[in-house]
This record gives sequence, structure tokens and C-alpha cells, in this order.
Amino acid sequence: MAEFSLPKNSRIQPGKHYPAKEGAKRTRTFHIYRWDPDTSDNPRMDTYEVDLASCGPMVLDALLKIKNEVDPTLTLRRSCREGICGSCAMNIDGTNTLACICAIEDCKAGDVKIHPLPHMPVVKDLVPDLTHFYAQHASIKPWLQTTTPPPPDRERLQSKQDRAKLDGLYECILCACCSTACPSYWWNADRYLGPAILLQAYRWIVDSRDEATGERLDALEDPFKLYRCHTIMNCTRTCPKGLNPAKAIAEIKKLLVERRS
Ligand code: SF4
Ligand code: F3S
Ligand code: FES
Repeated sequence: MAEFSLPKNSRIQPGKHYPAKEGAKRTRTFHIYRWDPDTSDNPRMDTYEVDLASCGPMVLDALLKIKNEVDPTLTLRRSCREGICGSCAMNIDGTNTLACICAIEDCKAGDVKIHPLPHMPVVKDLVPDLTHFYAQHASIKPWLQTTTPPPPDRERLQSKQDRAKLDGLYECILCACCSTACPSYWWNADRYLGPAILLQAYRWIVDSRDEATGERLDALEDPFKLYRCHTIMNCTRTCPKGLNPAKAIAEIKKLLVERRS
């Protein structure tokens, strides 16, 4: 019979509690997923009371305050702290987003719950293993492919109209919020490319300077790589950059139908 509960060593246990320092003026409680591969302990939820009166406004500020002042073992990725690098992607109160542009005051009332991106292997605490995600990105050849030689004295030019076709695509920062919110990707990530990578694939398909459009479409015409998208739309709902991967996927499907007729 199928087993639908988590194996015993994956069940999340209650963790440690870190109260706010004496004299804290405006506290908010953060429940944070913790897991250390160097111990045999189950994952746990640690609880930290943070004084918002001495903390920056974003969830990333609270996490860094915890790491710097309370618990240096807390592990997370971050770099740009302005929604550009994509490295601080995590699940905050049930939504995949970027901790550096997620305001604490915009979180649901009550305690804030923070987990790593869902359905990915965890390296430690809030750090997911994105190795497979990046390999999938490499598989769509995310660079300009050409056969004609470039003009000797200038770049390959593009009309304003053709350049505009890349709007809503080039802004993707590969944070993986969309792919890890997609149930189809949860179940078939080994073969389904997922919304982030398909949006990237479309970005090169519609680039007027690229000369491998046919090969790119051939590579996607596959029941799993592309057609596991069932228009669930979680991807578009969650993208912290306001992009629409579901539309990009629909455009690829449309191009595949059009080239058959
Ligand atoms: Fe992140 Fe949005 Fe790109 Fe998906 S489409 S990887 S959510 S920026
Ligand atoms: Fe998934 Fe988005 Fe398609 S959530 S099923 S990729 S529309
Ligand atoms: Fe770069 Fe958040 S730290 S996107």
C-alpha cells in the first residue's frame, strides 16, 4: 500500500526558542526551518523573537539580524539584497519569494514562518540544492546561436520592435520561485523543465538574432520537457519579479502547433 506520510527522519520537530533581548520594544516571532546534514537529527522549527525596532524592514534583514546577533549557525543564501541576484529565494508564510524584497509588515498577521523552497533537496537550513535546476538551464543552451558570421564592424543589431519581444523575459533572475511552486515540477522535475527554464527557452526562441529557432523547438517537442505544464498558474502567481512564465510556455506550445500547419 502506498505510504503518504513523511519518513520518520524527515518529520519536522519543534526546535529551540530564542526570546527577545530584555528591553525589546516591538517584537515579532519568526519560525525558521533548520536542518543540519552533519547531524542525524530531524529537521526542526526554531523560534526567534526579533525586536523590529532595531531591525531593517525586510525579512532578509530579520534573518541577518538573527544570524549576526543570535545564532550564527543559521544558514541562508543572499547577495545583492535588492531583488537582482535571486539567491535569497525561500518560502515565506507559504509563498515562494525573495526575502530581500519581502517586507516584514506585509507578512500575514502573527508569526512569520520561513522554509526553504519546496520540493528541492536541502543543503542546509534555508539553502536548497539547485544543481539539477542549473543543469536544466544549461540544457536549453541559453546563449545566442548563429551560423552567419557577425558584421565585421558592429554588433548584431535588432529593431526596437524585436527588442521589445524580450521584455518580460530578460528580467528573469533564475530564482526558481516559480518552478518550485509548480506541482508538475514537484512530481516530474527529472524530466519536466519547469516554468523558469521554459521561460528562458522562450527568451532565446523569440530573439530575432538567434538562428537556432527550429532546433530549439525540436528539443522542446517532448511529452515531458514541455507538455507536463498543465496551466496550473502557480508560477505566474508567485514570481517575485512579476513575470508570466505560464504565458511564455503557452507561446512555445503555440509556435509548435503553428509550425505543423
Ligand atoms: Fe524567478 Fe520569476 Fe524567473 Fe521564475 S520567472 S525564475 S520566479 S524571476
Ligand atoms: Fe506549472 Fe505554471 Fe504550468 S504552475 S503547470 S508551469 S502554468
Ligand atoms: Fe539578491 Fe535577494 S539577495 S535577490
